[in-house]
Amino acid sequence: MGHRVPHVTHYLTEHFADDGYTTLSGFRARGGYETARRVLVEQSPDDVIGTLKRAGLKGRGGAGFDAGTKWSFMPRDGAGPSYLVCNADESEPGSFKDRVLMERGPHQLIEGILIPAFATGAATTFLYIRGEYAEPARILQRAIDDATAAGVLGSNVLGTGFAHQIVLVRGAGAYICGEETGLLESLEGKKGQPRRKPPFPAERGAFGRPTTVNNVETFCHVPHIFARGVDWFRSIGTEESPGTTLFGVSGHVERPGLYELPLGTRLDEIIFEHAGGVRAGRKLKAAIPGGVSMPVLPAGHLDVPMANEFLREHGSSLGTGGVIVMDETTCMVRVGCVISEFFRDESCGQCTQCREGTGWMHKLLLRIERGSGTEADLDVLEDVAGKMEGATICAFADAAAWPVQALLRHFRSEFQGHVHAQKCPLPESFEI
Ligand SMILES: Cc1cc2nc3c(=O)[nH]c(=O)nc-3n(C[C@H](O)[C@H](O)[C@H](O)COP(=O)(O)O)c2cc1C
Ligand code: SF4
Repeated sequence: MGHRVPHVTHYLTEHFADDGYTTLSGFRARGGYETARRVLVEQSPDDVIGTLKRAGLKGRGGAGFDAGTKWSFMPRDGAGPSYLVCNADESEPGSFKDRVLMERGPHQLIEGILIPAFATGAATTFLYIRGEYAEPARILQRAIDDATAAGVLGSNVLGTGFAHQIVLVRGAGAYICGEETGLLESLEGKKGQPRRKPPFPAERGAFGRPTTVNNVETFCHVPHIFARGVDWFRSIGTEESPGTTLFGVSGHVERPGLYELPLGTRLDEIIFEHAGGVRAGRKLKAAIPGGVSMPVLPAGHLDVPMANEFLREHGSSLGTGGVIVMDETTCMVRVGCVISEFFRDESCGQCTQCREGTGWMHKLLLRIERGSGTEADLDVLEDVAGKMEGATICAFADAAAWPVQALLRHFRSEFQGHVHAQKCPLPESFEI
């Protein structure tokens, strides 16, 4: 199957227990910024992009697009400014990896930005961070200031002659500003509403200029690839999805937390071995593999390697690697109510299917949960979700429809149980 997980390793979080690592001097004492300096002195932008393409690093922001390929889309004709954007919006419920990467390794992120900045010819990176992340924003701003004062950033990066600045921009709490073009609108001071594509950001991005948007974690992998080489990187994870990732495990487990593991680690291994299994000896009912936008998987389908090529065969996706675990006491209709309420509130409202569909899905789910749903409601729910897919300006509507479709696919009998009993058969489940 092309699936291999050779050895457990962690490189992104290796020094995270060490307080000194967050300071410029502590980072440099562990060899920090040496890789960026060497790359900027010894390699051409084309070399850098070629290396990244061979490494096969896939974006960690949700869509899993190949990072080197994305960088190669940027024009390097020198005709005016181009930009990088670091997407630190991290608003997907169940996802908290970027926060830890920024809090515990701010200079690792800056080093990870410098290499693609050089490769794409960008003089400025906008680091767009969700408004609620006050503490990570403070830590990052300090790291940026320290790096600028020490000549790591600025007009002569690390003495190489390359110029680069990082500008921190704080969001104001809208989930849709994590979608890259909604982010760009917000960055420009406009209402955060996704743009029609094409043109794609590499052609027309921030302020009308060519722009590449990558996720925080995607950048953080970059210095390690250049420090240890493509073969090393490809020896971790799977053939199609190399490297580690940070799995954020939450919900009904004994040890919720962040686990850096190779892509391709099985979901049941993450839950039972790393996160200590289901709380209080209860039985597992289901797990969402990658944040609430990703389709739920029922117990019995959790022996799947956590990489997109395998999860797709099970009708789901890696998303942001935020694993949400639910035990036997969980009512899956309530799960649908909570998820659909989130999407109803966060839709930007531009597309009818999304604006109306998210509201209707929530109303139908609440009606079923409260005991007044009918068999016909299940069909209407399925129909509404189906009409939202692939029909809108951005992928938000798909992300809202998929979880509901998966709940119906795997737990239809539980939905029918609500309809027949005219009440929730699991009254001990969580409050809504
Ligand atoms: C509704 C929606 C919300 C998103 N939120 C985020 C987010 O919070 N952080 C993020 O990195 N990517 C988010 N994305 C994905 C971005 O649009 C984009 O693909 C990503 O930042 C690219 O980075 P990568 O290639 O490094 O993964 C979101 C996408 C959608 C459709
Ligand atoms: S799909 Fe939803 S969130 Fe995306 S642009 Fe349309 S209305 Fe806005």
